Amino acid sequence: MITFEFEKLDSFISPSLKEKYFNRKEEVFASFQRSDMTGWVKGIDSSLISKIKEKAKEVKEYSDCLVVIGIGGSFLASKALNAALSSYFEKDAFPIIYAGTTLSSAYMQGLLSYLDKIDFSVNVISKSGNTLETMVTYQLIKEKMQEKYSLEEMKKRIIITTDAKEGKLYQEVEKEGYFSFPFPTNIGGRYSVMTAAHLFPLAFSWDIDLLNQGYQEGKKYQEQAYTYAVLRRSLFDCGKYVENYSVYEPKLFYFTEWLKQLFAESEGKKQQGILPISTIYTRDLHSLGQFIQEGNKILFETFFQIQNSSFLNYQGNNLHQMNCTISDSVASAHRQGGVPVHTITLDSICEKTMGEVMYFFMMSAAFSAYLFEVDPFHQEGVEIYKQEIKKSVHIQ
Ligand code: PA5
Repeated sequence: MITFEFEKLDSFISPSLKEKYFNRKEEVFASFQRSDMTGWVKGIDSSLISKIKEKAKEVKEYSDCLVVIGIGGSFLASKALNAALSSYFEKDAFPIIYAGTTLSSAYMQGLLSYLDKIDFSVNVISKSGNTLETMVTYQLIKEKMQEKYSLEEMKKRIIITTDAKEGKLYQEVEKEGYFSFPFPTNIGGRYSVMTAAHLFPLAFSWDIDLLNQGYQEGKKYQEQAYTYAVLRRSLFDCGKYVENYSVYEPKLFYFTEWLKQLFAESEGKKQQGILPISTIYTRDLHSLGQFIQEGNKILFETFFQIQNSSFLNYQGNNLHQMNCTISDSVASAHRQGGVPVHTITLDSICEKTMGEVMYFFMMSAAFSAYLFEVDPFHQEGVEIYKQEIKKSVHIQ
């Protein structure tokens, strides 16, 4: 369950401004419904969930580790959920290495040497099937596999998630006969949490049925998602150009990375949009905290609190309660410094609640983009850098 405490904003913006954006609801919903990129609203078929679980169970039996290769929307949701759901120190999740997010040769060299020593399988994820970082990493790891495994064995160990009709990865599936999951045409990377792109690696450790259940239940927050979008849009009109997502639970760090991509790629177009940044508090109160309190007033914040966490007693106090109280005190201090603060509370960090909160934010990001009059589901800006790279770096 999620609860929302949105900042009342009366001292920051005029009620008529909010009204103006609340009044655009019908138009925003209509644009949303007209889009052909909202396949994520329906969710995933139960038959595909069963297939994903079955394949994950099989691969787990003969692998010590899964190497997941992908970037952007083909990486962040599963990384965020794996990090959020894992214990801090206990090894309670199946070992996964996320690769494909850097072209650092030192990183790659280290990874390839490490892979020499373990039995691993690979899940390559790319909707387009052409992304440079993903393809370079895949080809290098495939060469390593050719040294270690027979062709037959490689067929068991390579799983490709890509478009079902085109792209280099699709051609690879056709040529080599590797096992593949489809990346749906009507779902963009950053909206793809409830697809095989993320559910397959997650199924190695977590209950993806519960995640799906939470995701479906997230639909009940549609009104709150619109309200949050309206508040962001109104704050932007008052010069609040930056939103700081802040967590008091460090394992939610990659969740904020997911949020940053979701909002930046959905609304950062036509010189519009709010720049999403993130902090881990209280750590960053000792770095960015000074700027947030007394610096340029371009910011507002969204805090995440967790209702139920582990109980640890410190000098007669519940440490978790202390962490929550500190979050309230920081919100109060920042408000005094002219920074509006919303607080979103998750009942706990579990599959179900994470499914709910991710659906909530995907809705909000889409509504928010429409309020900025940009298309949430395309990212021509990202494509420009990909095209530019192709002019100077040639890979097969
Ligand atoms: O959200 C998006 O659509 C992008 O961030 C893509 O996920 C990212 O560029 C990777 O693209 P692909 O999955 O085609 O490799």
